[in-house]
Amino acid sequence: MDKKTVQLGHVLVTGGSGFLGSHIVQRLLAEPDVVVFSVSRNPRQRDARAKYRAVDITDEGKLRALFQEIKPRVVIHTVSPLSTDNKAVLHRTIVEGTRALLRCAANCPETRAFVYTSSDSAVASPSLPDRKLREADAQLYTATHFNNPYGRSKALADAAVLAADSTNLRTATLRLPAIYGEGDTNFIPQLLSSVRKGEHKMQLGDDQKLFEFVYVKSASEAHVLAAKALLRTDTAQTDRESPKVHGEAFFITDGQPRHFFDFAREAYAAAGHPVAPNEIKKMPFAVVQAMASVGEWAYWSFTLGRLTPQMRRQSIDHLNKGCHWSIEKARQRLGYAPVLDQHIAIKRSMEWAMAHEK
Ligand SMILES: NC(=O)c1ccc[n+]([C@@H]2O[C@H](COP(=O)([O-])OP(=O)(O)OC[C@H]3O[C@@H](n4cnc5c(N)ncnc54)[C@H](OP(=O)(O)O)[C@@H]3O)[C@@H](O)[C@H]2O)c1
Repeated sequence: MDKKTVQLGHVLVTGGSGFLGSHIVQRLLAEPDVVVFSVSRNPRQRDARAKYRAVDITDEGKLRALFQEIKPRVVIHTVSPLSTDNKAVLHRTIVEGTRALLRCAANCPETRAFVYTSSDSAVASPSLPDRKLREADAQLYTATHFNNPYGRSKALADAAVLAADSTNLRTATLRLPAIYGEGDTNFIPQLLSSVRKGEHKMQLGDDQKLFEFVYVKSASEAHVLAAKALLRTDTAQTDRESPKVHGEAFFITDGQPRHFFDFAREAYAAAGHPVAPNEIKKMPFAVVQAMASVGEWAYWSFTLGRLTPQMRRQSIDHLNKGCHWSIEKARQRLGYAPVLDQHIAIKRSMEWAMAHEK
């Protein structure tokens, strides 16, 4: 692929204080001649070399003013509420917020590239046990066909970003499965919490389905590669000079699909708590799904929707979906490769979580 040097210039990372966003900021800062800006509602100054701004992306007036001030050449859009937030928040932030950003980017002459962080939750296509799903065969959820409000919003935003691709603004979406790594506030701490609660010998169902995972530094690398590839397209004289990246979606994973509890048990072992095959206690899937539904109903009734239980039906259902993807397109067109072997990445992530345990 074309290795022509690309200067990123001013880059706006939305959600640059978040888990993935802060790793993308760090990765960008290793580039020459880059100025990195981050926006979120309550920014944390995670690196003195980046410029952090407090802006809610659903406030289009403030976003427009920000674009006029910083004139980003590249936008990397990672903002999302929690996947379990209510559907109004999810729609407003993910769908309306992304549309507002796209309008600002399209109206800013300096903005040339827009990379969106999408999710496996946006993809409707089922996991194929016998072969990896490729982007060309993947279907996004739609406004009327979806599994949960998070998946619906992520799918609508993903589609909006791809539809916004033009000669003035080149766009691409990166579809990511569960992200793990240093700084994780969700997945890896939950695995450690299972160990601390003595729940690590439990398994939901038969653990037959394959899942993809992605180490956060690999995911960050992919965002930077996609931004550069879009800018390269922008300056290419002909389509043949660079592989088509604009208006395209890419699966980004470790390239090492695993059974979910196999991955989890490797993390437990890295925390010093290996589980032998004869120690595994299987819980029937349907029973756990029913327990989660009853728990949600009880919380809703007793707190009138103000509190939500830790065990959510949506998360349990996700464990039944599976995810088995090909990353060949990203390898060929972006030059993507995972930056670290998955076994080492799991070990480092658990070591980080134990060192930062509260
Ligand atoms: N984590 C995963 O396993 C996973 C898997 C697949 C895809 N993804 C996608 O990856 C992206 C990053 O996920 P993450 O886990 O890194 O999330 P995260 O740590 O929760 O970060 C999200 C960021 O968005 C900001 N934010 C939320 N609402 C905002 C708003 N209205 N305006 C401005 N900023 C807002 C938050 O900061 P404030 O609260 O201060 O505003 C935070 O900095 C998301 O798009 C997610 O859908 C994540």
